[in-house]
Amino acid sequence: MAERPADKTATGKTIAGFSKLSKRGKIKWIVENFFKDPENVMHELMSYWHHNEDQQKILDNFSENAISNYPLPYSVAPNFLINGRTYCVPMVTEESSVVAAASAGAKFWMERGGIHAMVSGTTKLGQIHFKWNGPLDFIEQHLPEIRQQMLDDAADILKNMQARGGGVGDMTLRTPGGLPHCAQLLIAFETCDSMGANFINSCLESFSASLERYITHSEGLSDDHREFERIMAILSNYTPDCLVRAWVECPIKALGNFGGGMTAEDFAEKFHAAVQIAQADPYRAVTHNKGIFNGIDAVVLATANDFRAVEACGHAYAARNGRYASLSTCDLRDGLFRFALEVPLALGTVGGLTALHPMARRSLELLGNPGARELMMIAASTGLAQNFSAIRSLITTGIQYGHMKMHLRNILLRLQATETERDLAQSHFADRKVSFRAVQDFLQQIRSATNER
Ligand code: MEV
Repeated sequence: MAERPADKTATGKTIAGFSKLSKRGKIKWIVENFFKDPENVMHELMSYWHHNEDQQKILDNFSENAISNYPLPYSVAPNFLINGRTYCVPMVTEESSVVAAASAGAKFWMERGGIHAMVSGTTKLGQIHFKWNGPLDFIEQHLPEIRQQMLDDAADILKNMQARGGGVGDMTLRTPGGLPHCAQLLIAFETCDSMGANFINSCLESFSASLERYITHSEGLSDDHREFERIMAILSNYTPDCLVRAWVECPIKALGNFGGGMTAEDFAEKFHAAVQIAQADPYRAVTHNKGIFNGIDAVVLATANDFRAVEACGHAYAARNGRYASLSTCDLRDGLFRFALEVPLALGTVGGLTALHPMARRSLELLGNPGARELMMIAASTGLAQNFSAIRSLITTGIQYGHMKMHLRNILLRLQATETERDLAQSHFADRKVSFRAVQDFLQQIRSATNER
């Protein structure tokens, strides 16, 4: 493809002090410089502003240079039975079949004992990276003293979290990747119901200053070894000990029949094979895990948690054994079908945007105001239900059958079908294959039949 010439296009336009312009000023600059129909675009961008100015201010404060809102559907998936409790799960996603798949998976398992879930840990992690050419066993030996110094120096930051039952856990000295003179302290944190990013980062910045002070003032070190360089202090989004497991199980016979002569046993075997493939082959594993995150991310977004952190961590965990593999497993033994998902999920239900975002607040209310552990179980269960439905479709009808059925609505919208045309199309395509072309032809047919009348 030919490259666009530099500077002669709209993308070559720059501006100083953009962030200082008013919201209307920002929009004006954008529409005048980047769009062919400035008036319409301005109108459109402003049409998404919240009618309540206070609510809009809250949203504007989330991000620099906010000029409008970006609407996504806010959906719910009912019939989640998790550990004997029913939930209607809020999901934010743009992909048409995701909520339908999660709901179908949840309903399937609701009729077979529900989903089980368990949190095995909520430990979060942070790192202090530094350069030092001194003897690392000095730090190792003095770690209890250094730790105490760090905790004393950060007492104000720690106070509230400690009162809530959280705080600082183990500190481990590491030398990653053999980088010359580079070392790190890996520090564990318990942040209770908050995701705790701000708390952890504030602690780490204070801890790294304490560490530097300890080293540079230590009388037990030579002058040369008192030179210490802080590189960075930041939480790690890899939290393999903030782990949740969700699983379903039932006698293979109770899986039921799947049409086309597929028995419960055939289904179980084929399902098992599909998961084995995702265990063995990274090409399949990425798509398989993407399906899991279709469910998890939608809940994470609906509750204003950090979906980028959750994804990055989940994929690193999927590769923890040196090869990227499926996050879910399937087991067929003793006549039982067992399907499980294990995934690290650093989620919070207090702090961050969870209380600020008006819809996130409602999401949590819809879920019965869960704590972080409960939310981890709900999100993992949604990922499991999603994964189950995706594999069920893949090994029975094929994924396009369901996808295109859901997509039919989008196609009809794009082709500007009337309500009557939409109804006719829905029943016409109930047992037919949906494609853009097929829907276009169908509409043309009924439109010309109407014109002839
Ligand atoms: C589509 O968003 C997700 C799937 O591709 C997942 C999968 O293949 O398991 C259907």
